[in-house]
Amino acid sequence: MATGEIEIIINKLEILNEVSKLPFNLRKYQKPKEQLRLQHRYIDLRFPEMQNVLRQRSKMVHNMRKFLVEEHSFVEVETPTLFCRTPGGAREFVVPTHHSGLFYSLVQSPQQFKQMLMAGGIDRYFQIARCYRDEATRPDRQPEFTQLDIELSFTSLNGIINLIELLLIKTFDGKLPKLPFKRITYMEALESYGTDKPNLRYDLKLKNVSSLFSQSSTDTNFGAFVLPYTSKLVKLTAKYKEKINEIRKKYNVRVVLNENISKEIGHEINEEIKSIIGEENDIILSVGDKKNVCLCLGEIRNVLTAVLELKSLIKINDDLEPFWIVDFPLFEMGEDGLQPCHHPFTAPHPDDLHLLNTDPLKVRSLAYDIVLNGHEIGGGSVRIHNAELQERILKMLNIDSSKLSHFMNALKSGCPPHAGIALGIDRLMAVLCTAESIRDVIAFPKSHDGKDPLSGAPNKISSDDQKYYHIKSTET
Ligand code: AMO
Repeated sequence: MATGEIEIIINKLEILNEVSKLPFNLRKYQKPKEQLRLQHRYIDLRFPEMQNVLRQRSKMVHNMRKFLVEEHSFVEVETPTLFCRTPGGAREFVVPTHHSGLFYSLVQSPQQFKQMLMAGGIDRYFQIARCYRDEATRPDRQPEFTQLDIELSFTSLNGIINLIELLLIKTFDGKLPKLPFKRITYMEALESYGTDKPNLRYDLKLKNVSSLFSQSSTDTNFGAFVLPYTSKLVKLTAKYKEKINEIRKKYNVRVVLNENISKEIGHEINEEIKSIIGEENDIILSVGDKKNVCLCLGEIRNVLTAVLELKSLIKINDDLEPFWIVDFPLFEMGEDGLQPCHHPFTAPHPDDLHLLNTDPLKVRSLAYDIVLNGHEIGGGSVRIHNAELQERILKMLNIDSSKLSHFMNALKSGCPPHAGIALGIDRLMAVLCTAESIRDVIAFPKSHDGKDPLSGAPNKISSDDQKYYHIKSTET
């Protein structure tokens, strides 16, 4: 046609399939609610954003494979997902079998397999691995998700960090800052941002004022920290005060707002804090158990950021800001004693080995996390390859090593030193696409209640099936 468009003259028209009434229209400005979209995901996938995300995801995984296989001689190995329970990690899904009373567990990650591959001489392993964890679904958490799982023999913490930095730079050409990425210690992150996955794209830092309090000289767990914020934020409304109070209760620490510090804590301390922080800022003070104080202020920091951003009082840059967190503690104290901060196979920091018996909570590990814009997109560690040390750590964690005899035997078979990492593909994709939830970058995600919106699974099973699997539900 004169316009350049093409006019088609139809000779014969054959309808290949018909459309029954659609549950929603594909209109940009009238997007249906998420539940309806997920219930009919095969239609939702036709939206250009979904098309774009899934194509970008495919390209990302392709680039990662290319980098690992073609440039760094990695071997892609598939490992089983039906396995036995792994002690000391996330909650697992169990799978009944037709053998009476016998169950599989779905793997929460291929951790044990990749370490056994190192014992087996596959010295550069990777896998795009499916992982399953029976934990509450959140915007950044799914019960089944995908990792780029990596393990190498004869490497070190720096070896892994350098490799992943290169991989990310190659995969996301031009989108990331220059190498090397920043590194901060776990303690720095906790004391400055109140979290181990801070968002560094804006400047709002906690300040340690413990030394102004006399308890700090007698109690090593005591902490007093303040969160300064611009006093232009005229006042925190009742809604935000309520939120802050809820956070305070969760961490069981004292929180004092700016206007009450003189009255509740003392005029002198208030003046000293003001002289450190500067008169132009308001502050929120928290006092109590140091870790809880920091975590509490970290959550308050998130609430404040939202308010400050709404009022354009804070500038959040659009850059991608990846950085590493290192020097995590090896253990933390759980309800039933020591718990691994990463997992039970993580190596203690060699400089802290002498503290294992005397002060285990002070022992650092050779674990590392990579954080991107406030999201933990990956984590890993140098592993224990010495069976004796592994046995000792399992004992400290109250884990029965006889349940891991296959694994212990692999270590005893001359297993080389090794280290590894797993990147959360869904989280990485979500941050890159600035998606609100990882559900937006997964073709068929579970909904926020952990269920499959298409089929309604998990479902009840018939009494015949119950008989076959030798299980009986207490639900009627
Ligand atoms: P970790 O448990 O830290 O380490 O997991 C690695 C990365 O996987 C992602 N991730 C998740 N993504 C979506 N939904 C979830 N429920 C979920 N849980 C974790 C995160 C996280 O950083 N085997 C070890 C790794 C290793 O030591 O090599 C592991 O799985 O981005």
